[in-house]
Amino acid sequence: MALILGIETSCDETGVAIFDSNKGLLANTLHSQIELHNLYGGVVPELASRDHITRIIPLIEECLKLAKLTIDTIDAFAYTAGPGLNGALLIGASVANGIAYSLGKPVIPIHHLEGHLLSPLLSNEQPSTPFLALLVSGGHSQLIAVEEIGKYTVLGDTLDDAAGEAFDKTAKMLELPYPGGKHIAQMAKNGEDVYHLPRPMLNSKTLEMSFSGLKTAVAVLIQKLGGANNLDNTIKHNLAKSIEESITDVLVRKTHDALQQTGIKNLVVSGGVSANLTLRKKLSRLVQENGVMAYYPPLDLCTDNGAMIALAGVIRYNQRITQYDFNVNPRWKLSKLGPVV
Ligand code: KG4
Ligand code: ZN
Repeated sequence: MALILGIETSCDETGVAIFDSNKGLLANTLHSQIELHNLYGGVVPELASRDHITRIIPLIEECLKLAKLTIDTIDAFAYTAGPGLNGALLIGASVANGIAYSLGKPVIPIHHLEGHLLSPLLSNEQPSTPFLALLVSGGHSQLIAVEEIGKYTVLGDTLDDAAGEAFDKTAKMLELPYPGGKHIAQMAKNGEDVYHLPRPMLNSKTLEMSFSGLKTAVAVLIQKLGGANNLDNTIKHNLAKSIEESITDVLVRKTHDALQQTGIKNLVVSGGVSANLTLRKKLSRLVQENGVMAYYPPLDLCTDNGAMIALAGVIRYNQRITQYDFNVNPRWKLSKLGPVV
């Protein structure tokens, strides 16, 4: 049995959680910097780092209190070591290493995307390997064949913007707050797909995706409709629906193609965009038609959180280390990860 405290600081969420290898998730605390960055329409890295510093210790204290534990009972400290913002990653890494060093306990550096990939294990229904993963977040849109945990083959990636980034950038054009994905989804509920925006690379033979053209299409359309200031609510709702339909259609078609090509019968969908209910609805039709089982993280654990890092820490517990000469890797590639030992 192992008790792991997980720390996530790769971007704009400070997340801390405690996972017990026998009992599961004991406590999960989070501070989102959305309000801080909203003023600037996107994440400001320096502000993110400064905010992580002020939040992280109180969050660790709150998490221990919720789990009714003291810090000396923690067996190892897992932290996100990449990919992400350099300064933000360094806050989590230095706090994890500092506390672990002071207690003589080990640390476990975790790959942020492996955290997302494993996050469906935090749900009641859990996938077994091999599975195909559709990992869709603010920074990534990837289709990954997971032969076993730690053995990842990226089958398809975005050539430019990630799916979440496409939501965020088009939301900004509609003057919606950052991050825009959930606002587009909310507005789309009352809209119709009247604009039929392009579905980039929908029919290409590869599993690559491209979302940057969508921005241009939306910008041109908004100009034609009289500019962002002159859009009435009906138009805004319809635009949001058309954006959501375009992005989710591409994700679903590429997932369909990847399932066909690999013959894999388990699908994992994770990352912030996996909270999108239109995407979930379309994927559930796809998996039903193809005899595939789909697995998602709980809705509140789709976006960045400490729980997925603590869970990954439990899974990689045998790789814990007691050297504290830590480093972070803002561009860590998933394919560079070794198997779980
Ligand atoms: O996984 P995540 O928290 O951060 C990264 O690792 O990038 O994902 C954040 C992304 C943002 O782009 C946000 O707009 C998107 O997830 N997102 C959504 C929804 N909720 C969050 N996109 C579409 N629909 C949603 N309901
Ligand atoms: Zn993430």
